[in-house]
Amino acid sequence: MEKESIGIGLMGLGIVGGQVAKVLLEKADILAEQAGCPLVLRKIKVLPADLDRPLAREIPAELFTTDTDEFFAEPGIDIMVEAIGGENPALEYLKRAISGGQHVVTPNKEVIAKHGAELHVLARKQGVGLRYEGSVGGGIPLIAPFKYDLVANKINGIYAIINGTTNYILTRMAREGIDFPSALKSAQELGYAEANPENDIEGIDAHYKLAILASLAFQADVRPGDIYHEGISRLDSRDFRYARELGFAIKLLAIAKLVNNSIEVRVHSAFVPEDSLLAKVDGVYNAILVEGDLVGKVLFFGEGAGALATSSAVTADVVSSAQDILHGVSDRAVRKSESARSIKPMAEIETQYYLRMNVADQSGVLAQISRVLGDNRISISAVIQKETDSAAQTAEIVITTHPAQEKAMQQALGELARLGVVKEINNFIRVES
Ligand code: HSE
Repeated sequence: MEKESIGIGLMGLGIVGGQVAKVLLEKADILAEQAGCPLVLRKIKVLPADLDRPLAREIPAELFTTDTDEFFAEPGIDIMVEAIGGENPALEYLKRAISGGQHVVTPNKEVIAKHGAELHVLARKQGVGLRYEGSVGGGIPLIAPFKYDLVANKINGIYAIINGTTNYILTRMAREGIDFPSALKSAQELGYAEANPENDIEGIDAHYKLAILASLAFQADVRPGDIYHEGISRLDSRDFRYARELGFAIKLLAIAKLVNNSIEVRVHSAFVPEDSLLAKVDGVYNAILVEGDLVGKVLFFGEGAGALATSSAVTADVVSSAQDILHGVSDRAVRKSESARSIKPMAEIETQYYLRMNVADQSGVLAQISRVLGDNRISISAVIQKETDSAAQTAEIVITTHPAQEKAMQQALGELARLGVVKEINNFIRVES
């Protein structure tokens, strides 16, 4: 299609939106060469408060509007970039843009995780592209590899660290022994954490991202509600100490596996062997290990959060959309959904476990605990009595198990909690070796 320029509309001038605006303006020449014609930022929908930010002074004032209808009435917008975040009204704006024939780009994981299937259908119907490379892993190319480069594979599994904030917090806690609140505060100051930090620390952000990756990898409609998720707030410095002694690191892992048409998807903290690739991923970095039947193991690694990294992905999506427009096509990749694929209930997953308990320091205690585990067909791999509090007459014991079913482990945990000699089950963490 002959076009002298491609018009861009940007919704949101926050951390990511602001950086995208800067890149579009400052790298206009390079981007025009890559796209095949100039990409012209035509309108930016802002909140009144955005206009007071120093960044706003670097952008021509006539581009701003605080009025949504005025934004959508702007002629010549071919690509709408949604960078306001959250589910609503972002979903409504994306639908409005698609229905109006605009290609859309969004780094919004919540909207894509929850409504990606329906947005894809709408975009296909309208013959426009829906791109969301920035929604998972910041600047790490992930969506495009799943959509294009890995399609000859049957993907068997994804093992991922996809939340930079929690990985930063876990790294600081493991390395420096600092407490959880100070590590979180420092992550927030660096701009990694979500507006609501619970989204990061309770595994919510990671489970949105896993829904997106698993849907692409397994050609299925995996929704956030299908994904078991736990955060990192129960972790204690003692767990880090024992993990290290046992040869493990602790990571918030997002796991997706396909076994016999059944999809296993879960997000939780996990022990990973300290010599594994994922154990070495520290700080705000993300890493996504993908196992395909042809390609084997592929590791994607990079900065998973932050304005610069995310703007790299969003701007690339804008350029790809512009190339499609110039070639008169919508997104080439078809989103498939195999309805035969079911989600495996969490109770049926199988993994190993680490248990830390406070027990009465008296004879026969270990025998009672092993009986409960044995009765539930859970085989013990190691038992270590760690510390004794002689005044309280209690001891701390750490147990690791061989692979067992989650259902059996939950049953055993309930029975252990009811044993008079078990004072407290301080933590139980899955071990992914
Ligand atoms: N809060 C997110 C993270 C930002 O820490 O990974 C990127 O989605």
